[in-house]
Amino acid sequence: MLKPITHIYPDLSHFHTACADFFIKRVQIAIAAQGYCSVALCGGNTPKPIYQLLAQPEYASQIRWDKVFIFWGDERWVPHDHIDSNYRMACELWLNQVPIPPDHIYPIPYEQTAEASAASYGLTLRTFFNNRSPRLDLVLLGLGEDGHTASLFPHTSALHEKNAWTSTVFVPKLNSNRTTLTATFINQSVHVTFWVEGQKKAATLKQVLEGPYSPDMLPAQLICPQSGQLWWLLDGAVAQNL
Ligand code: 6PG
Repeated sequence: MLKPITHIYPDLSHFHTACADFFIKRVQIAIAAQGYCSVALCGGNTPKPIYQLLAQPEYASQIRWDKVFIFWGDERWVPHDHIDSNYRMACELWLNQVPIPPDHIYPIPYEQTAEASAASYGLTLRTFFNNRSPRLDLVLLGLGEDGHTASLFPHTSALHEKNAWTSTVFVPKLNSNRTTLTATFINQSVHVTFWVEGQKKAATLKQVLEGPYSPDMLPAQLICPQSGQLWWLLDGAVAQNL
Protein backbone atom coordinates (compact mmCIF):
# COMPACT_ATOMS: atom_id res chain seq x y z
CA MET A 1 0.00 0.00 0.00
CA LEU A 2 1.33 3.45 -0.92
CA LYS A 3 1.83 5.97 1.90
CA PRO A 4 -1.11 8.41 2.02
CA ILE A 5 -0.36 11.91 0.75
CA THR A 6 -1.69 14.79 2.84
CA HIS A 7 -2.03 18.40 1.72
CA ILE A 8 -3.16 21.11 4.14
CA TYR A 9 -4.38 24.44 2.80
CA PRO A 10 -4.37 27.69 4.82
CA ASP A 11 -8.02 28.56 4.39
CA LEU A 12 -11.28 27.42 2.85
CA SER A 13 -10.77 29.30 -0.40
CA HIS A 14 -7.39 27.68 -1.03
CA PHE A 15 -8.86 24.30 -0.03
CA HIS A 16 -11.71 24.56 -2.53
CA THR A 17 -9.41 25.67 -5.35
CA ALA A 18 -6.93 22.92 -4.54
CA CYS A 19 -9.64 20.25 -4.59
CA ALA A 20 -10.91 21.49 -7.94
CA ASP A 21 -7.39 21.57 -9.37
CA PHE A 22 -6.75 18.07 -7.99
CA PHE A 23 -9.89 16.76 -9.69
CA ILE A 24 -8.95 18.27 -13.05
CA LYS A 25 -5.40 16.91 -12.88
CA ARG A 26 -6.40 13.37 -11.92
CA VAL A 27 -9.08 13.20 -14.61
CA GLN A 28 -6.73 14.56 -17.29
CA ILE A 29 -4.02 12.05 -16.36
CA ALA A 30 -6.45 9.12 -16.44
CA ILE A 31 -7.83 10.14 -19.85
CA ALA A 32 -4.31 10.60 -21.24
CA ALA A 33 -3.32 7.16 -19.96
CA GLN A 34 -6.35 5.03 -20.86
CA GLY A 35 -8.77 7.16 -22.88
CA TYR A 36 -11.39 7.57 -20.17
CA CYS A 37 -11.86 8.34 -16.46
CA SER A 38 -14.35 6.84 -14.03
CA VAL A 39 -15.14 8.96 -10.97
CA ALA A 40 -17.30 8.35 -7.90
CA LEU A 41 -18.63 11.54 -6.34
CA CYS A 42 -19.35 12.17 -2.69
CA GLY A 43 -22.33 13.96 -1.24
CA GLY A 44 -22.82 16.20 1.75
CA ASN A 45 -21.92 19.88 2.08
CA THR A 46 -18.13 19.87 1.73
CA PRO A 47 -18.01 19.28 -2.04
CA LYS A 48 -20.76 21.79 -2.95
CA PRO A 49 -18.46 24.83 -3.45
CA ILE A 50 -15.96 22.60 -5.23
CA TYR A 51 -18.58 21.27 -7.63
CA GLN A 52 -19.65 24.88 -8.28
CA LEU A 53 -16.03 25.78 -9.07
CA LEU A 54 -15.76 22.82 -11.43
CA ALA A 55 -18.86 24.03 -13.25
CA GLN A 56 -17.11 27.31 -14.07
CA PRO A 57 -15.87 27.57 -17.69
CA GLU A 58 -12.23 27.96 -16.68
CA TYR A 59 -12.41 24.56 -15.01
CA ALA A 60 -15.02 22.79 -17.15
CA SER A 61 -13.15 23.62 -20.36
CA GLN A 62 -10.11 21.64 -19.17
CA ILE A 63 -11.95 18.30 -19.29
CA ARG A 64 -12.87 16.05 -22.25
CA TRP A 65 -16.32 15.36 -20.81
CA ASP A 66 -17.07 12.71 -23.44
CA LYS A 67 -14.30 10.66 -21.79
CA VAL A 68 -15.65 10.93 -18.24
CA PHE A 69 -18.00 8.51 -16.48
CA ILE A 70 -19.64 9.60 -13.25
CA PHE A 71 -20.75 7.34 -10.40
CA TRP A 72 -21.60 8.00 -6.75
CA GLY A 73 -19.90 6.67 -3.65
CA ASP A 74 -23.18 6.67 -1.82
CA GLU A 75 -26.73 7.92 -1.99
CA ARG A 76 -29.61 8.44 0.29
CA TRP A 77 -32.51 6.11 -0.48
CA VAL A 78 -34.70 8.91 -1.88
CA PRO A 79 -36.05 9.81 -5.33
CA HIS A 80 -33.53 11.59 -7.55
CA ASP A 81 -35.52 14.84 -7.32
CA HIS A 82 -35.52 14.75 -3.52
CA ILE A 83 -33.75 17.61 -1.75
CA ASP A 84 -31.50 15.08 0.04
CA SER A 85 -30.34 13.35 -3.15
CA ASN A 86 -26.58 13.47 -3.76
CA TYR A 87 -27.32 12.97 -7.45
CA ARG A 88 -29.65 16.00 -7.52
CA MET A 89 -27.06 18.13 -5.70
CA ALA A 90 -24.22 17.26 -8.08
CA CYS A 91 -26.39 17.78 -11.17
CA GLU A 92 -27.80 21.11 -10.04
CA LEU A 93 -24.46 22.55 -8.93
CA TRP A 94 -22.27 21.06 -11.65
CA LEU A 95 -23.16 18.27 -14.05
CA ASN A 96 -26.11 20.05 -15.67
CA GLN A 97 -23.71 22.80 -16.69
CA VAL A 98 -20.99 20.73 -18.38
CA PRO A 99 -21.19 18.81 -21.69
CA ILE A 100 -21.01 15.32 -20.23
CA PRO A 101 -23.09 12.83 -22.23
CA PRO A 102 -26.17 11.94 -20.15
CA ASP A 103 -25.47 8.22 -20.55
CA HIS A 104 -22.09 8.76 -18.88
CA ILE A 105 -23.82 9.59 -15.60
CA TYR A 106 -24.72 6.60 -13.44
CA PRO A 107 -26.87 7.62 -10.45
CA ILE A 108 -27.56 5.09 -7.75
CA PRO A 109 -31.14 4.06 -8.61
CA TYR A 110 -34.09 4.63 -6.30
CA GLU A 111 -35.69 1.22 -6.30
CA GLN A 112 -38.53 -0.29 -4.25
CA THR A 113 -36.09 -1.09 -1.45
CA ALA A 114 -32.62 0.13 -0.52
CA GLU A 115 -31.42 -3.44 -1.00
CA ALA A 116 -32.77 -3.45 -4.55
CA SER A 117 -31.02 -0.12 -5.19
CA ALA A 118 -27.73 -1.55 -4.00
CA ALA A 119 -28.13 -4.74 -6.04
CA SER A 120 -29.04 -2.78 -9.14
CA TYR A 121 -26.04 -0.47 -8.73
CA GLY A 122 -23.73 -3.42 -8.23
CA LEU A 123 -24.93 -4.75 -11.58
CA THR A 124 -24.43 -1.33 -13.18
CA LEU A 125 -20.85 -1.25 -11.95
CA ARG A 126 -20.09 -4.80 -13.05
CA THR A 127 -21.57 -4.09 -16.48
CA PHE A 128 -19.50 -0.92 -16.85
CA PHE A 129 -16.29 -2.62 -15.74
CA ASN A 130 -17.05 -5.73 -17.80
CA ASN A 131 -14.21 -5.12 -20.25
CA ARG A 132 -12.22 -2.77 -18.03
CA SER A 133 -10.16 -3.36 -14.91
CA PRO A 134 -12.74 -3.25 -12.07
CA ARG A 135 -11.36 -0.20 -10.38
CA LEU A 136 -12.59 3.37 -10.30
CA ASP A 137 -9.97 5.88 -11.39
CA LEU A 138 -10.95 8.45 -8.79
CA VAL A 139 -13.14 8.30 -5.68
CA LEU A 140 -14.11 11.46 -3.77
CA LEU A 141 -14.88 10.96 -0.09
CA GLY A 142 -15.99 13.14 2.78
CA LEU A 143 -15.62 12.49 6.50
CA GLY A 144 -18.41 12.67 9.03
CA GLU A 145 -17.91 13.86 12.60
CA ASP A 146 -18.63 10.28 13.65
CA GLY A 147 -15.85 8.95 11.42
CA HIS A 148 -18.08 7.67 8.63
CA THR A 149 -17.25 8.03 4.98
CA ALA A 150 -19.50 7.45 1.99
CA SER A 151 -22.35 5.76 3.84
CA LEU A 152 -20.07 3.46 5.77
CA PHE A 153 -21.37 4.33 9.21
CA PRO A 154 -20.01 3.05 12.53
CA HIS A 155 -21.18 -0.35 13.74
CA THR A 156 -23.03 -1.25 10.56
CA SER A 157 -22.84 -4.53 8.64
CA ALA A 158 -21.73 -2.72 5.46
CA LEU A 159 -18.31 -2.28 7.07
CA HIS A 160 -17.65 -6.00 6.95
CA GLU A 161 -18.77 -6.68 3.37
CA LYS A 162 -15.83 -8.39 1.71
CA ASN A 163 -17.22 -9.37 -1.69
CA ALA A 164 -20.07 -7.12 -2.85
CA TRP A 165 -19.22 -3.77 -4.38
CA THR A 166 -22.31 -2.10 -2.91
CA SER A 167 -24.26 -2.40 0.31
CA THR A 168 -27.12 -0.77 2.18
CA VAL A 169 -27.16 0.87 5.58
CA PHE A 170 -29.97 1.98 7.87
CA VAL A 171 -28.70 4.99 9.83
CA PRO A 172 -30.77 5.21 13.07
CA LYS A 173 -29.65 8.73 13.97
CA LEU A 174 -30.74 9.90 10.51
CA ASN A 175 -33.68 7.49 10.37
CA SER A 176 -32.75 6.88 6.77
CA ASN A 177 -31.65 4.09 4.47
CA ARG A 178 -28.61 4.58 2.29
CA THR A 179 -26.76 2.77 -0.46
CA THR A 180 -22.98 2.82 -0.46
CA LEU A 181 -19.94 1.49 -2.23
CA THR A 182 -18.20 -0.95 0.06
CA ALA A 183 -14.70 -0.34 1.42
CA THR A 184 -13.72 -3.47 -0.48
CA PHE A 185 -14.63 -1.84 -3.80
CA ILE A 186 -13.34 1.64 -2.91
CA ASN A 187 -9.99 0.09 -1.99
CA GLN A 188 -9.63 -1.26 -5.53
CA SER A 189 -9.55 2.30 -6.86
CA VAL A 190 -6.57 4.03 -8.46
CA HIS A 191 -6.91 7.31 -6.56
CA VAL A 192 -9.03 7.91 -3.46
CA THR A 193 -9.18 11.36 -1.97
CA PHE A 194 -10.75 12.61 1.22
CA TRP A 195 -11.84 16.25 1.08
CA VAL A 196 -12.28 17.43 4.69
CA GLU A 197 -12.61 20.89 6.18
CA GLY A 198 -13.81 22.58 9.33
CA GLN A 199 -12.76 22.80 12.96
CA LYS A 200 -15.69 20.62 14.08
CA LYS A 201 -14.07 17.56 12.46
CA ALA A 202 -10.54 18.19 13.79
CA ALA A 203 -10.82 15.75 16.70
CA THR A 204 -12.31 13.02 14.51
CA LEU A 205 -9.66 13.52 11.83
CA LYS A 206 -6.86 13.19 14.40
CA GLN A 207 -8.39 9.95 15.67
CA VAL A 208 -8.77 8.59 12.15
CA LEU A 209 -5.21 9.46 11.13
CA GLU A 210 -3.30 9.06 14.39
CA GLY A 211 -5.49 7.07 16.76
CA PRO A 212 -5.69 3.30 17.19
CA TYR A 213 -7.08 1.27 14.31
CA SER A 214 -10.74 0.83 15.22
CA PRO A 215 -12.70 0.85 11.95
CA ASP A 216 -15.98 -0.22 13.52
CA MET A 217 -15.96 3.11 15.36
CA LEU A 218 -14.08 5.05 12.66
CA PRO A 219 -15.04 3.52 9.31
CA ALA A 220 -12.88 6.02 7.37
CA GLN A 221 -9.94 3.92 8.62
CA LEU A 222 -11.14 1.11 6.34
CA ILE A 223 -10.10 3.17 3.30
CA CYS A 224 -6.64 1.97 2.31
CA PRO A 225 -6.32 1.38 -1.43
CA GLN A 226 -4.69 -1.97 -2.22
CA SER A 227 -2.44 -0.58 -4.93
CA GLY A 228 -3.88 2.89 -5.45
CA GLN A 229 -2.99 6.21 -3.88
CA LEU A 230 -4.85 7.70 -0.91
CA TRP A 231 -4.93 11.47 -0.63
CA TRP A 232 -6.10 13.75 2.19
CA LEU A 233 -6.90 17.30 1.10
CA LEU A 234 -7.56 19.33 4.24
CA ASP A 235 -8.06 22.90 5.31
CA GLY A 236 -6.06 24.35 8.19
CA ALA A 237 -9.00 24.32 10.58
CA VAL A 238 -9.61 20.57 10.39
CA ALA A 239 -5.88 19.81 10.46
CA GLN A 240 -5.13 21.99 13.48
CA ASN A 241 -4.52 19.03 15.80
CA LEU A 242 -2.27 17.01 13.49
C1 6PG B 1 -23.32 11.91 2.18
C2 6PG B 1 -21.84 11.79 2.00
C3 6PG B 1 -21.21 11.63 3.34
C4 6PG B 1 -20.47 12.92 3.59
C5 6PG B 1 -20.09 13.08 5.03
C6 6PG B 1 -19.53 14.49 5.28
O1 6PG B 1 -24.09 11.26 1.45
O2 6PG B 1 -23.69 12.74 3.03
O3 6PG B 1 -21.43 10.98 1.07
O4 6PG B 1 -20.33 10.57 3.49
O5 6PG B 1 -19.31 12.95 2.77
O6 6PG B 1 -21.25 12.90 5.80
O7 6PG B 1 -20.58 15.38 5.02
P1 6PG B 1 -20.31 16.97 5.03
O8 6PG B 1 -19.40 17.25 3.88
O9 6PG B 1 -21.68 17.57 4.83
O10 6PG B 1 -19.70 17.31 6.36
